[in-house]
Amino acid sequence: MKKIIFTLAVLLSSNNLFAETLKVTSPDGKIVLSVNDDEKPSYEISFSGENIIKASRLGLAFKNAIPFSDGFSISANQKKSANSVWQLPWGERKNVTDNHNELLVTFSTKHKDDAKKFKVRFRLFNDGVGFRYEVPKQKDLDQVEIINEFTEFAINDGKKATAWWIPARGWNRYEYIYNTTDVESVDRAHTPFTFKLDSGTHISIHEAALVNYAAMTINQKRPGVLKADLTPWSDGILVKTKTDFKSPWRTIQISKDAVGLLNSDLILNLNEPNKLGDVSWVEPAKYVGIWWGMHINKNTWGSGEKHGATTSETLRYIDFAAEHGFSGVLVEGWNVGWDGDWFFNGDVFNFSKAYDDFDIKAVSDYGKKKGVRLIGHHETSGNVTNYRNQMSDAYALYEKHGVRQVKTGYVADGGDIKRIDKNGIIRKEWHDSQFMVSEYLHSITEAAKYKISINTHEPIKDTGLRRTYPNWISREGARGQEFNAWGTPPNPPEHTTILPFTRMLAGPMDFTPGIFDMGFNGLGDKSNRPQTTLAKQLALYVVLYSPIQMAADLPKNYQANLAAFQFIKDVPTNWHKSKAIAGEVGEYVAFARQERDGDDWFVGALTDEKSRTLTLKLDFLDRSKRYQAQIYRDGKNAEWINNPYEMIIENKQVTAKDELVLPLATSGGVAIRFKAL
Ligand code: NOJ
Ligand code: CA
Repeated sequence: MKKIIFTLAVLLSSNNLFAETLKVTSPDGKIVLSVNDDEKPSYEISFSGENIIKASRLGLAFKNAIPFSDGFSISANQKKSANSVWQLPWGERKNVTDNHNELLVTFSTKHKDDAKKFKVRFRLFNDGVGFRYEVPKQKDLDQVEIINEFTEFAINDGKKATAWWIPARGWNRYEYIYNTTDVESVDRAHTPFTFKLDSGTHISIHEAALVNYAAMTINQKRPGVLKADLTPWSDGILVKTKTDFKSPWRTIQISKDAVGLLNSDLILNLNEPNKLGDVSWVEPAKYVGIWWGMHINKNTWGSGEKHGATTSETLRYIDFAAEHGFSGVLVEGWNVGWDGDWFFNGDVFNFSKAYDDFDIKAVSDYGKKKGVRLIGHHETSGNVTNYRNQMSDAYALYEKHGVRQVKTGYVADGGDIKRIDKNGIIRKEWHDSQFMVSEYLHSITEAAKYKISINTHEPIKDTGLRRTYPNWISREGARGQEFNAWGTPPNPPEHTTILPFTRMLAGPMDFTPGIFDMGFNGLGDKSNRPQTTLAKQLALYVVLYSPIQMAADLPKNYQANLAAFQFIKDVPTNWHKSKAIAGEVGEYVAFARQERDGDDWFVGALTDEKSRTLTLKLDFLDRSKRYQAQIYRDGKNAEWINNPYEMIIENKQVTAKDELVLPLATSGGVAIRFKAL
């Protein structure tokens, strides 16, 4: 008898006879997600019939409670669908469609005395999947400390998949050159983590609505199995919270090709609507600034002979901005604290006290007359307690002088953010820890009280929170233009052909395009110069979306080439529609965008180190209109190393039926304004 029972038990578990499999599909039916009920919570995903994510574990472990994982089975489930259109106050497009099917699964233990439960909410869109943990209040689970998140992404055939990724938990935060490897060679990586399966399906793993939680990085656990790896606090705990709580959404964007990833709104759709009410004071804009001069060593942030942020220099920039239609002038280095080695000196930054040669009232009053606002700057060098203590006064001072945008900076090595705890003890934290996730968001909500928008440098990665807090106007969070001034090596030609498919899936980036003088140390200096043609610098304004864009070079370099500068003057930073039209990760990319509240369209396209010919169908244009195409393209002999400046500017009359054949030089590009006639 005993023997028979044993055989039966083996049969049941191997065949899963009584196990329930729940399924939910995307609205178009192409993505299918299944949740298995075999006392090991897991999910798997197929796309157009191909199994793309194999059975992958779900669950959480706590310091003072049983792990939510093995032994939990499905006790309830609920399905819902939604289809709506909502609007972005500023962005790549005005109208965003949220069309999804939802499955909410409750997992419970069967222990009589210690019944525990958690839920996983899955949402399937045509462009991918989001899911998050929801842990309700329950017996013996009030304050919680998460010590592990079991979430896995088991990639089908990772050896044959190509991934583009940057390392996580490194000293340089998100500012790394991208690696291109097979998935199984990935170590610990940041998200968005993008890869292409052998079949051509493109997938990107990231997260949405990262609030009061640690950032998720991913770690290769077994070959092809990428596991959530949350960035810890200085005491090793990953997340400190309280029931009931929700994790951020774990997101998997899925497309049949590379371009499809670029047209996805999944991350924004998984964020909460605007919590700030009237945000008419959040102003997309273009700006110039006292900035590049410091990066190329012509000026200093600190006081002295080469001080950049002087009253007279700022007045000169205001004149230049007013003359060319820029609404903002960024000034870095005006406040006391930069002298000495500012990288290590965050304690001495004073956010209200100016150097003697800078008069904030005089420059902002002058700006007011000229229709130009100062753009504020707060470098903290990662000393966040010093910043926190002065924050309200510092924002109030800026508001008094008509400032609407502040660029913040958290220059410090990864793991070296300095916070002073309530007992006066210095703690060192990661930029992407739960502590810093909350610290960055605090600066956003505090700034909102003063009608100030924030552009965060050395930020926490973007997870779409601009939908909820539209004053989080831009951020850095990848290698930007500054690396072309002093990075060793600078950004390689392929860098900006990878960014759109990785970093930019998260949201806008303050890359600061528009360097016209590629040879500030001579073109031969391969280690300190932009590795692009001039036309590619223009294309960046359309390709790398940000509602605030800098014309980053020195005014004299624009004055020397006003014809090319015209494109930067014309290009908007707020769009009615955006459409990625071509591209392969790490090779080339092309975007078309229609201006907000206007009829003009703009195109930007760029390539890696290979020259190519782009055939551009103009079928995105309005069929009932004629346009003048103002084309800025690489000249016949242009190539980025020795001849980056040769550019042809030409005008052509076109309609939606036309096609343009456009040559792109090595590390070249093209920028076009289609002016409606
Ligand atoms: C790094 C920022 O990315 C850069 O734009 C800024 O100029 C420096 N920090 C100084 O704050
Ligand atoms: Ca930086």
